[in-house]
Amino acid sequence: MSATQDTSRPAPVTELDWASDRMRALAELAVDLYAEFLDGLDQLPISRHAPAGEVRAAVLRPVPEDGLSDDELVAHLRDVLIEWGVQCGHPRFLAYVTGSGTVPGAIAEMLAAGVNMNVGGWQLSPSASEIEMHLMRWFAGRFGMPAGAGGLLVSGGAMANMVGLKAARDHGAGWDTRRDGIAAGPPLVLYATSETHVVTDRAADALGLGTAAVRRLPVDQDLRMSVPSLREAIAADRAAGRLPLAVVATAGTTSTGAIDPLAAIADVCRDEGVWMHVDAAYGGPAVLADDLRPQLAGIDRADSIAFDPHKWLYIAQSAGGVLVRDVQLLADAYQVHATYVWQDRERTGAGVSIGELGPQYSRGFQALKLWVSLLAHGGRAYAERISHDAALARYMAERVGERDRFQLAAPVGLSICCFRYAPEGAGEPYLSRLNERIMTELQLDGRVYISNALLGERFVLRACIVNHRTEADDIDAVLDVVAELGARLHDELSG
Ligand SMILES: Cc1ncc(COP(=O)(O)O)c(C=O)c1O
Repeated sequence: MSATQDTSRPAPVTELDWASDRMRALAELAVDLYAEFLDGLDQLPISRHAPAGEVRAAVLRPVPEDGLSDDELVAHLRDVLIEWGVQCGHPRFLAYVTGSGTVPGAIAEMLAAGVNMNVGGWQLSPSASEIEMHLMRWFAGRFGMPAGAGGLLVSGGAMANMVGLKAARDHGAGWDTRRDGIAAGPPLVLYATSETHVVTDRAADALGLGTAAVRRLPVDQDLRMSVPSLREAIAADRAAGRLPLAVVATAGTTSTGAIDPLAAIADVCRDEGVWMHVDAAYGGPAVLADDLRPQLAGIDRADSIAFDPHKWLYIAQSAGGVLVRDVQLLADAYQVHATYVWQDRERTGAGVSIGELGPQYSRGFQALKLWVSLLAHGGRAYAERISHDAALARYMAERVGERDRFQLAAPVGLSICCFRYAPEGAGEPYLSRLNERIMTELQLDGRVYISNALLGERFVLRACIVNHRTEADDIDAVLDVVAELGARLHDELSG
């Protein structure tokens, strides 16, 4: 302590400590804004798509010395969220794989942040920790995994896949990879396909395997992993002294929603003693719908599964889930002992600290938005809506088939429809150029919003319906806008 420091008793400093009436005043304005958003969402442009400089000029402001009033704060929130936001929950937003965000989930998120448990440590979050573990066991059960399976929530699919593959590495390599690193044994190999999401490369990089350790196997005509190629690749790697570690099968590829032949892959993994990881980040929730579940047959045999509540469970960003057949393997992959986290488990009766099962130590109560959304709607409503999304994708494919100048570009997989605007007589590479321009102009236009897939060399338009607000009218509107912009751009480009 320096001689000049004041040691008198500090007077209270309360500006950050809000009583309930101050909270209520701001919350009521925020709730009004949320209601205005919900009531007007379908009339809002999905995006203003202004250049970055314009957005910065509109929403950035210096951090003030003195706090803003509630009215100023809420006006700023309107600018940030509504005027200058992108409305991923708009019924005509069908791009990438972006869930729409449920209302009870949003309300739960506010309360979770308000109470602010730390779900890294059981003792700091008993109710929250138990709910998250229960939810993960429930999902494991939906996937058909046995008792003893479980997992945790992470930030999204990228992280969920990495955590599953970390468990594979630490369990499957056969030496102490955590202590000695991967250089202490033969090179480890992962098996994926040309359709597997790029986060597998990122996981291979982060886990020290290197992206060259990912074998990108060919796919069959339905864009599913070729099982003969998988067997051959494993044999070739073994012959070269490498160690086949894990197969990354996908249940719902990002481009087309194709599902790898999970049961056949499970047979290969069993025969070869290789870990089976399933990236079900997008397609996993299909197991909740009776009509779709059979497509995922074999997923029950996975050693680990990534699935994303913030995609087809309609939960707000961000929420990814990872499940492992034996939840102890997550503890084996992540447990560390910190001297400053001391606990007498016997005396306190403490449960599992989720911070010991994954990469994050301190964690928020992410599970609450998922839990409350499931409680508020019930399993039946979820099953119906997921099934409905797939029906809308099939409806879209039918309409594409009926329209002039439209072509279906891939079989409908789950709730994804890939198609092209294809004027008669036009060929490659012109069609790719035309459809790329249509997508860009459509995103700038803001009435509807879809994205693309690259199928081989072909650039195609892609709608992915994981939006609980989308209905058949919205699908028709997307096709109408594509037809309108397609005709104009075709005239421009070919004229
Ligand atoms: C199959 C698949 N895996 C992984 C990811 C990555 O998920 P996230 O963006 O949540 O990290 C995606 C994203 O679309 C995906 O579709």
